[in-house]
Amino acid sequence: MHLEQLIRERRTIRKFNGIPVSENLVMQLMLKAEQLCPYEGEARWRYVYAGTPEAREKLADYLSEKIMGNKMTKLALGKLVESFHKRFMEVPANVIAIAKTDPVPGKNAEAYGRLCRILQNFQLLAWEQQLGMVWKTEPAPVLQNEQFYNRIGLNEDERFVGLLQIGYFDKAPKGRTRTPAERRWTAMESSSFGNV
Ligand SMILES: Cc1cc2nc3c(=O)[nH]c(=O)nc-3n(C[C@H](O)[C@H](O)[C@H](O)COP(=O)(O)O)c2cc1C
Repeated sequence: MHLEQLIRERRTIRKFNGIPVSENLVMQLMLKAEQLCPYEGEARWRYVYAGTPEAREKLADYLSEKIMGNKMTKLALGKLVESFHKRFMEVPANVIAIAKTDPVPGKNAEAYGRLCRILQNFQLLAWEQQLGMVWKTEPAPVLQNEQFYNRIGLNEDERFVGLLQIGYFDKAPKGRTRTPAERRWTAMESSSFGNV
């Protein structure tokens, strides 16, 4: 597929059709995604994969337990959390992407930026194989909380970059209209430099 067409046609997929996904395929696509953005030096990121029924169950437990909270919310939200858990369990393959942090701001941004670039490549390569996904960074209580970080084994010098929920799908959603890029474009003029 032509690159521009591929980028235009890829859509975030949130509903999967239950066809199993091979871990080997996911890994090969990620390795290819990495090869397409070569880097020098140490790779400062890693992935945690959850694809077996046991691993998916564990992940679904982690993702829903924080929402469950205390006894009161358990009573009030029991059914809702159950349906969350079921939806998480329906995801055939999960990749948790983790980048190293660094006290040096530039280095910090580089590891994060490189991993984002790889993940975008991965999304496109997977789309070519009719494999869809959603990249999730949802705020607490679902994803961004200390308990979840501990559960997935995040080290102190690492940051969570995203959970990719991956699977085959029957129907892709329609694309949304985008805000024209020109609206976010400013040319710096001499007057914009301030009075320093
Ligand atoms: C860094 C990043 C984080 C995202 N986090 C979430 C998320 O937490 N939950 C979700 O449903 N979608 C998430 N998405 C998917 C976006 O909602 C989706 O990309 C956007 O709606 C545009 O749709 P498209 O990917 O089909 O072009 C995320 C996407 C990116 C790039």
